[in-house]
Amino acid sequence: MSAAALSTAPQPLVQAHDLARTFDVSAPWLNRVLEGKPRTLLHAVDGVSFEIEKGKTLALVGESGCGKSTVARLLVGLYEPTRGGLTFDGQDAHAAFKGGNARAMRRRIQMIFQDPYASLNPRWLVEDIIGEPLQEHGLITDKAALKARVGELLQSVGLSPLDMVKYPHQFSGGQRQRISIARALATKPEFLVCDEPTSALDVSVQAQVLNIMKDLQREQQLTYLFISHNLAVVRHVSDQVGVMYLGRLVELADKHTLFDNPRHPYTRMLLDAIPKMHDTGKARTPVQGEVPNPLSPPPGCAFNPRCPHVNERCRTERPQLLTLGGIRIACHAVEEGRI
Ligand SMILES: Nc1ncnc2c1ncn2[C@@H]1O[C@H](COP(=O)(O)OP(=O)(O)O)[C@@H](O)[C@H]1O
Ligand SMILES: [Mg+2]
Repeated sequence: MSAAALSTAPQPLVQAHDLARTFDVSAPWLNRVLEGKPRTLLHAVDGVSFEIEKGKTLALVGESGCGKSTVARLLVGLYEPTRGGLTFDGQDAHAAFKGGNARAMRRRIQMIFQDPYASLNPRWLVEDIIGEPLQEHGLITDKAALKARVGELLQSVGLSPLDMVKYPHQFSGGQRQRISIARALATKPEFLVCDEPTSALDVSVQAQVLNIMKDLQREQQLTYLFISHNLAVVRHVSDQVGVMYLGRLVELADKHTLFDNPRHPYTRMLLDAIPKMHDTGKARTPVQGEVPNPLSPPPGCAFNPRCPHVNERCRTERPQLLTLGGIRIACHAVEEGRI
């Protein structure tokens, strides 16, 4: 088989299997000993699996604290998984991050952060901000070639090559996020992990940045994991949507299925809370209840205290993510046909 035939094999580019990450949030050792307290582990991400095909976007949604950023950091190698792993283009990504292939793997998987104010060094010229990954990965050493490439990257995100001699504070929030995108694209990555990339921006600017990201995806066949707490944004950019609750996926479906026929009571609650396109003036239902403390999650289904369909089984037995009717869902009520 030729190399080309191999690369078009239907294997997804990104495969997360049973990714998990705990954080030790115990009191300091001495306090634990004196007060006789055990170690405390927080299960930030607890067994998340998904696949993303090349050129596609999987969105992860869920309320604050459900583990979205931890998934993002696991995928780019900023965190080691406590359990599970990531297969990227057929390779074990975390083995690569630790071994001699770390640089090659980092070049291929890049991240865009929520806050472009915090992620850009205020003392650096844009030229250095965008040029750094190129130099760091040894992709371009020639000064003139470096400037030319930085200019090209600026243009690809709708900025001017003349902007390279400015500092981050000379730009608006949306422009700054475009600079972060240009920097992330410098190494010609294939997979971009975008953690709430537009959440810090004004609504009018969000759409611009999202459109640029979509154009870049089409032109460069980029694969995205797109994290957002905002379902309206997700509807605009995703192919598939995964809904997270307290460190786990509770529903995973293609975008149209999820928005037209949400199955999980939590997905329904999130959807009921977003304003409708043709709002009839009927009040939308705000999200009810609160996310439980991740240090003492309820037994059974973590959503059970907020769920209108709860029964005894839900209070004791944790639902597994099952494939049902073309979607993946973790809900006893759906599985039993009660909803
Ligand atoms: N470095 C850390 N140390 C301890 N707890 C953490 C750390 N990072 C995240 N957490 C906890 O893990 C859970 C998931 O956090 P996070 O992934 O940031 O969620 P999200 O991005 O969905 O808001 C939260 O309860 C958070 O407090
Ligand atoms: Mg986050």
